[in-house]
Amino acid sequence: DMPKPYAAAFYRPPVLKPQSTSVDPDGAKVNHYRITMRQADAQILPRKKTGILGYEGIFPGPSIELEQGTRAVVHMRNQLPQFHPKFGHLMATSTHLHGSASLPQYDGYASDVTPRGFCKDYHYPNFQPARTLWYHDHGVHFTAQNVYSGLAGLYIMHDKLERALLPQGAYDVPLVLSDAMFAADGSLGYDDRDHSGLWGDVVLVNGRPWPVMKVQPRVYRFRMLNASVSRSYRPSLSTGDPLYIVATDGGLMPSTQAVSNWRHGMAERYEVLIDFSKYKPGQRIELRNLSNPNNRDYDHTNKIMAFDVVAPPSESAMKLDPKWNVIPTKLADSHVMALTEKDAEKKRYFRVEHEGTGEPWTISDVTWEDVIASNFKLVSADPRLDAVEVWEIENKSGGWFHPVHIHLIDFQILSRNGKAPFGYEKGPKDVVYVGEGEKVKVIMKFGPHKGRYMVHCHNLPHEDHSMMIQFRVGLAAD
Ligand code: C2O
Ligand code: CU
Repeated sequence: DMPKPYAAAFYRPPVLKPQSTSVDPDGAKVNHYRITMRQADAQILPRKKTGILGYEGIFPGPSIELEQGTRAVVHMRNQLPQFHPKFGHLMATSTHLHGSASLPQYDGYASDVTPRGFCKDYHYPNFQPARTLWYHDHGVHFTAQNVYSGLAGLYIMHDKLERALLPQGAYDVPLVLSDAMFAADGSLGYDDRDHSGLWGDVVLVNGRPWPVMKVQPRVYRFRMLNASVSRSYRPSLSTGDPLYIVATDGGLMPSTQAVSNWRHGMAERYEVLIDFSKYKPGQRIELRNLSNPNNRDYDHTNKIMAFDVVAPPSESAMKLDPKWNVIPTKLADSHVMALTEKDAEKKRYFRVEHEGTGEPWTISDVTWEDVIASNFKLVSADPRLDAVEVWEIENKSGGWFHPVHIHLIDFQILSRNGKAPFGYEKGPKDVVYVGEGEKVKVIMKFGPHKGRYMVHCHNLPHEDHSMMIQFRVGLAAD
């Protein structure tokens, strides 16, 4: 029974409650969370159960939501089966909080794995500007299968600025996009013969196929995360009306960007306002997916979800909320956005490449296999602590796109193919879509921690085979 578009009700992942709180010696509040990774059955399809591996046994995992300045310790317990029930690999996990400037020992380094029956406390500093982060498995060689099986969840950090500018609470809505294919028995299918990617025929939003959400005629904020293994999206509204991008991976952008669609690569986060106040109760608006090159499209992968407009609440309730139908224009400048090419003390160049079907995916001729073989000594860049650098990344892999993620830092995209970046990517970023034949330049400051961090493609089979390298901050004398 294949699910049909717009038959499932919209679902919002639950927010995880801290088990306890404490205060650090410097006065900062700390939330303590516990998460158990386990195997479970999920109700994704109308009449069949789907086996997943999930944080707390659900997909997406429970959301962590907190304020900037509140630190977090997440006690992560691996109670997964010893071997993956479908793919057979050893279930040794490493949890990465994508978007966090974590210390290296808490960053989910791919080869720093926790076996079944063991736990690890991950410490998160949460000093960065408000943003939409996500936590996901990063276990070496099997990130694709593990994330696809369900090991991904949201982590939302607020701050005063974003609270004052943008819709909150019921009107601040996470959308975790992913795609999947299902076998006749309801289990997850997997079709990636040559490590080029996995494209499913069912689009899930927060783990539900093409759901329908009831919305009031007002402005909503959607935190869109592309958690797909390999699919990129180009979201757009069926009405042709604009969507308003207000934040990128690292939080608020300098000013709102109205777009009719945008290219949304894997692991990128875009926060988007949609103004439903111009629609009538009873109207249905679809969020569609215009295609990008080099994805595999199916009958219904051109759809994401739908919104059914319902009657507004009383006028007095609307008046109480000043953000009812306001789209702000001026947002915020982060320190990353203030950097200019003159600030850079070093420029580096990287090539993402592919020799051909079945061959490894490489970054400037290096793979994670090489890093392992060097006993983790091989580093591809060694910025000083607090050094500002410009990195140029060129896609020489022929007909493939690669969303390249740099751990630890936020960057600014300086240029794309020698021209200005797209308006919607003029905010702080940690993933850059390096399209077919494209060349991008990014600028960033390396800190505040020393240590080894990864750089990789977020098409997960590419990462696993083995388009991943590392840099080390503070290796050079400083
Ligand atoms: Cu979202 Cu290194 O990963
Ligand atoms: Cu790639």
